[in-house]
Amino acid sequence: MTIPARPLISVEGLARRFGNTGPAVFEDIWFGVERGEFCCLIGHSGCGKTTILNVLAGLDAPSGGAVIVDNREIDGPSLDRAVIFQGHALLPWLTVLGNIAFAVASRWPSWDRAKVRAHAMTFIELVGLKGAENKRPAQLSGGMKQRVGIARALSIQPKMLLMDEPFSALDALTRGMLQEEVLRLCNETHQTVFMITHDVDEAILLADKIVLMTNGPGARIAEIVVNTMPRAERHRNDLHRHPQYYAIRNHLVEFLVNRSRNFDAEIAGQGYDPRRLRVVKPGLAAVNPPAEVVSLGLSR
Ligand SMILES: Nc1ncnc2c1ncn2[C@@H]1O[C@H](COP(=O)(O)OP(=O)(O)OP(=O)(O)O)[C@@H](O)[C@H]1O
Ligand SMILES: [Mg+2]
Repeated sequence: MTIPARPLISVEGLARRFGNTGPAVFEDIWFGVERGEFCCLIGHSGCGKTTILNVLAGLDAPSGGAVIVDNREIDGPSLDRAVIFQGHALLPWLTVLGNIAFAVASRWPSWDRAKVRAHAMTFIELVGLKGAENKRPAQLSGGMKQRVGIARALSIQPKMLLMDEPFSALDALTRGMLQEEVLRLCNETHQTVFMITHDVDEAILLADKIVLMTNGPGARIAEIVVNTMPRAERHRNDLHRHPQYYAIRNHLVEFLVNRSRNFDAEIAGQGYDPRRLRVVKPGLAAVNPPAEVVSLGLSR
């Protein structure tokens, strides 16, 4: 029997407990993110999403299990992994160009100033901030700051991009524009992304795969939902007209409203195995089994 190759990011038996007593926030979490895939994690507030992202970023150590990236266990932060937080976390005393150039120069210390500047400018243009490169964060709108954060993260060409509700603090119009930009940039750069969101429509627009997390404590990954709308057919303005849209949306909403808190009862006696998660393809039930069980290929 051939053992399937590991995905680029492989979360293997992850657990996190704060303090010595009380239940774990989560334990025995297994899932993978393939190279070039856009993966969203959805779950209710407090279930442990940011904690998982912090472990992926190397900013927090798990109490058990491991995260393997490109076949190596991560043991701290790395420029291979760029993080976009909800707050933009820009350096306030540097300009837009300065903030991005700082990251680029950290990534490629041997580059001279001109090369760093040219590389930084490419990404400033990519996010539509040409002309604002000499402004400082205090002179920018919330949406512009978040664009700088996105440009900075992409400019270091990370193996994976980690985003924790990156658009949640923005107004609806700016959020929509940035979502489309991120989708375009990820298409162009084949970036591997792991993103947390509360927003079901945001997940449907951006994600190729949606990981559903149940309520904590002792949160579990309930299942993996495949976005049955291909990337090329996802456009923010007519998302709701796509034949698959309501099937996916209803599945996600039903999970958040009911199943996320009753999941333990749902799986009682069903032989739930955290290493062999159900993969669901909403809207394709007629041509595929409604809940096909496949191995994620995470065996060691
Ligand atoms: N440093 C810490 N010390 C103790 N408990 C913590 C710590 N960090 C997180 N927790 C607890 O772990 C749980 C998960 O927190 P986390 O921030 O990962 O949730 P989340 O799913 O990201 O929530 P939200 O959607 O509100 O951002 C919460 O109950 C939180 O109180
Ligand atoms: Mg969080």
